[in-house]
Formats: sequence, C-alpha cells, structure tokens
Amino acid sequence: MKALIIYDSFYGNTEKIARAISGAVAGEVKVLRPGEVNSSDFAALDLLLVGSPTQGGRPTKAIQDFLNKLPEPAVKGIRVAAFDTRFSTKLVGIFGYAAGKIGESLKRKGGTLLLPPEPFFVKGKEGPLKEGELERAAAWAKRVLESKK
Ligand SMILES: Cc1cc2nc3c(=O)[nH]c(=O)nc-3n(C[C@H](O)[C@H](O)[C@H](O)COP(=O)(O)O)c2cc1C
Repeated sequence: MKALIIYDSFYGNTEKIARAISGAVAGEVKVLRPGEVNSSDFAALDLLLVGSPTQGGRPTKAIQDFLNKLPEPAVKGIRVAAFDTRFSTKLVGIFGYAAGKIGESLKRKGGTLLLPPEPFFVKGKEGPLKEGELERAAAWAKRVLESKK
C-alpha cells in the first residue's frame, strides 16, 4: 500500500488531522504540503488523500493550484478521498466547503472517490480542533482503507 496525503494548513489544525490519518494507514505513507510533492510520489500510488482548511468556502490557494496543475494521468484510476477543516456553524454553509471542491476536482481528473468528502471541525479560526476530531480522523482513514470501491 502506497499512500500520499497532501494537505495545507495555516494554523496547524489540518496538519494534525493529516497526521492522524497517516497514523491509521499501514504501509508506505507520505504526508506532504503541495510544494513538497515530486512526480515520483505518484509512481505506483494506491491512495491519494487531499485536505485543506476551508477558507471562503474553498480550499486554500496552494491546494487549488496544486489540483489545477495535477496531470490527469497521475490521478486516473487512483483511489482518492478528500477532507477539510471548517467551522461547524450553519451560517457559512451557503459558501460551500473545501472538501467537496477537492473531491470534485479529483473525480474530474479520473480518481475514484472512495467515500464522501469528510469535514473535521475547529472551535475558532485558529483552532483548536473540537474534542475527538483526531480520533474521528483515524477512524475515517480506516473506513477509507476498507472501502471496496
Ligand atoms: C481567511 C479565512 C477564511 C475562512 N473561511 C471559512 C469558511 O468559509 N468556512 C468555514 O467553515 N471556515 C472558514 N475559516 C476557518 C478555517 O476553516 C479555519 O481557520 C481552519 O479550519 C483552520 O485550519 P488550519 O489550522 O489547518 O489552517 C476561514 C479562516 C480564514 C483564516
């Protein structure tokens, strides 16, 4: 199993989620920011997870640029999943969220989305994460790995 987790994080919360996810994946797993990714990271890849803080209803610019530039052959036929961090208030719902947009982008490039995009919640702009979110991230990673798609 070769897995790649690509994330962005302004205040460290999404990074904590990305690392909790990686702890639940057995095998070769790398946790990288977009600027650290090499094309060789995509060689013989089994699973690609992409996560971002939600900012203005979207992923960060670094994640958006990464997804826009990601060549289709790198994603085609790869098992993918998306996650984000966000507020839990309903008021921001009208703008959408990062994870849905990441999932759509990965699907458009031919990735097989294993589970619906998953939110993890912060208490304030800079965090911290709500109680139990790291455990939920590890549990989500296990469900992703067990997905039969
Ligand atoms: C400029 C900015 C815009 C944001 N916009 C949203 C938003 O539209 N919806 C939301 O739920 N959270 C929003 N947030 C809260 C972020 O999701 C929160 O800062 C993030 O989850 C923290 O993750 P990080 O520590 O990995 O950066 C915003 C935060 C910033 C700084």
